[in-house]
Amino acid sequence: MLTQNLPEYWETLYQGKKDTWDLGKANPALLEFFKNTLCPKKGRVLVPGAGRGWDAVAWAQRGHETLAVDYAQTAVGVLSASAEKHPKLSVLNIDLFELSPKSTEPFDIIYEYGCFSAIHPGRRDEYFEVWDKMLRPGGLVIAIFYPLIQSTSLGGPPHPTSEGELMARLDGVLEVEERIKPKKSAPERMGKEEIWLLRKARR
Ligand SMILES: C[S@@+](CC[C@H](N)C(=O)[O-])C[C@H]1O[C@@H](n2cnc3c(N)ncnc32)[C@H](O)[C@@H]1O
Repeated sequence: MLTQNLPEYWETLYQGKKDTWDLGKANPALLEFFKNTLCPKKGRVLVPGAGRGWDAVAWAQRGHETLAVDYAQTAVGVLSASAEKHPKLSVLNIDLFELSPKSTEPFDIIYEYGCFSAIHPGRRDEYFEVWDKMLRPGGLVIAIFYPLIQSTSLGGPPHPTSEGELMARLDGVLEVEERIKPKKSAPERMGKEEIWLLRKARR
């Protein structure tokens, strides 16, 4: 049986045209956030579970060295083609749980959209540990959580999350510095997503 822990699960969705998460363009909430003074003007960006990479390309076009990570063949193919056009974009075909600060320098920024909800809830703590180890001290996670619901339900997929769940899992890992409700979102996601800025201690 295929579970969402396996690349084949995602590739089957891509090939079956069931990739309903794909907006076909950069997330309007991210483009809005680019204009916010809280958005760092510089820094290397890691985009785990980048998919076709609309948002990763947006970061690269903004001038950031950007590494997009995915392990589904279709996603990696599209990302690789984009990387040829955008010199600041590079691509790594790997299970993100295999990422290691030994093979690539720690990042200033990790951008999260649609990957957290793709990770099985049983591996969410482990996913936050990946953020922690791949971020430099003082680095920032910019996470757009969707769907964010005020409930403890973990029905899925994509598995929603709640403020309570996030606060519990982030406790002792990353500090919640700011929460922003975007004014712009894809129409069906309006009011259901929130940008969280999560800071790693400078130590
Ligand atoms: C729901 S899609 C979101 C894609 C993209 N972030 C977007 O918003 O369009 C989740 C993506 O994460 C990738 N993914 C899921 N688990 C992964 C893992 N363990 N390692 C690498 N990529 C993973 C899938 O292949 C898929 O492309």
